[in-house]
Amino acid sequence: MSARTYAIRTYGCQMNEHDSERLAGLLEADGLVPAASEDDADVVVLNTCCIRENADNKLYGKLGHLKSKKDARPGLEIIVSGCLAQKDRDLIQQRAGHVDVVVGTHNVHRAVELLHAARDGGRPVIEIWDEALDDAESFPSALAVKREVDFSAWLTIQVGCDNTCAYCIVPAVRGKEISRPFGELVAEVERLAADGVIEVTLLGQNVNSYGRDLTTSLRTDAASPLDAATAGAVWAADPARRARPLFADLLGAVASVEGIHRVRYTSPHPKDLRPETIAAMADHPAVCNHLHLPLQAGSDATLAAMHRGYTAERYLEKLVAARAGIPDLAVTTDIIVGFPGETDADFEATLEVVAAAEYDSAYTFIFSPREGTEAAVALEAEPGRAVDSAVVGERFERLRVVVERSALAKHRERIGRIEEVVVEGPSKRDASVLTGRTTQNKLVHFASDRPLRAGTLATTRVLDAGPHFLRGELVEVLATPRHRTRIPVAAG
Ligand code: SAH
Ligand code: SF4
Ligand code: F3S
Repeated sequence: MSARTYAIRTYGCQMNEHDSERLAGLLEADGLVPAASEDDADVVVLNTCCIRENADNKLYGKLGHLKSKKDARPGLEIIVSGCLAQKDRDLIQQRAGHVDVVVGTHNVHRAVELLHAARDGGRPVIEIWDEALDDAESFPSALAVKREVDFSAWLTIQVGCDNTCAYCIVPAVRGKEISRPFGELVAEVERLAADGVIEVTLLGQNVNSYGRDLTTSLRTDAASPLDAATAGAVWAADPARRARPLFADLLGAVASVEGIHRVRYTSPHPKDLRPETIAAMADHPAVCNHLHLPLQAGSDATLAAMHRGYTAERYLEKLVAARAGIPDLAVTTDIIVGFPGETDADFEATLEVVAAAEYDSAYTFIFSPREGTEAAVALEAEPGRAVDSAVVGERFERLRVVVERSALAKHRERIGRIEEVVVEGPSKRDASVLTGRTTQNKLVHFASDRPLRAGTLATTRVLDAGPHFLRGELVEVLATPRHRTRIPVAAG
């Protein structure tokens, strides 16, 4: 009998992408193999997101579609995991009785056991934990993983978020901030490097507050030889034992691991962007020249209503400091349009800050009320604060124009330069063209007279630029990948 197959559909952010790699690792440890296509998978996992409302709608649409498939093929098993599962809990079962397992964000590691329980019991299983256990199990990184890409790895350094942004559902579905011990993270990066990984991306909802919880709990204890494993050698050697974030220390430690050529991280919070992080980025060539610094809005009134903890001026000061400290830094951001009560003047302020910030690119979102968040509750009480959707559409478009203007200008500045890229593979549009990524996180589509494996380090000459990518030609191959190439085996 051939092995059962699985397919995972991932929605949302890198946290979820990374959780999906765990889920794949768990399913493969259970003997399953990847399905050739989602259509013929025996187990379908929907790893969900609920950051904006259309994410919810997408999931229920998808579940409806899977219902007819399951009617035709009762052996099909469906797992719903991720943030929407955490938020909607029993509702998923009520609206989609054909789902076999609903598993939350704090117990991803239980997914396969729950699938067995559902199978053995002949009925669906829902298991949602209200919070992560404060142990290694709550960290997806501590589990087996099946990496999507061989040369690059994600590392969850922190789960949850302690901020209270008025619009945001993340703290409700991902819980309070918990940092993974410093020593474990460095050891994991060393293992990854030994495995041929050259690029790591540190993940957290508020990455630059990493470690504050660790040092807060250690601070009052007497020094112990174990402190370095929890909080890193630099903190352990400092007699002051101050509670402080350890992000800059971690960045330095990870960037110093032999074989690690690039370190990225996402997302930092502007209010927590400290000079030592800028210094660590500048001092360690392996840390990429890219800062994703979510602005959200440029009006101080809107920022205050969002509880972002900074003013536009303060934000821009931090940006100036980062650009002064880190040569050739690319800056990207997230912006929300149409937060309740946003006036024309508020929006003009956003446009001004966006123009002044001269972003390399920006993710722009239309405000979406999420049940239970402060903004959604306030909006229910005062529906008049909603911004008219036609006005939102217009603002969104004007914002896009301003972002693209600076993006194109930034990209044009790079024409004629030699840029180092890590090859990702053939370009999506044209298989004869390769795509690579620069330290600034820019895509370069380049012609090459020979195929290059993903993970190859090469230099390219930039010949042309658009608002979202660069075009170039291969100059030189610097290094070929060290990781093992997976030989695809046909499931027999
Ligand atoms: N922790 C990260 C972001 C997580 S969500 C950070 O603070 O940067 C990614 C982005 O989605 C946010 O930066 C925000 O711009 C957007 N977002 C979050 N909630 C939203 C909502 N209710 N409506 C519209 N956009 C939202
Ligand atoms: Fe949400 Fe704010 Fe936390 Fe980011 S920092 S996850 S936007 S609450
Ligand atoms: Fe979505 Fe959850 Fe990420 S809500 S954006 S998948 S943390």
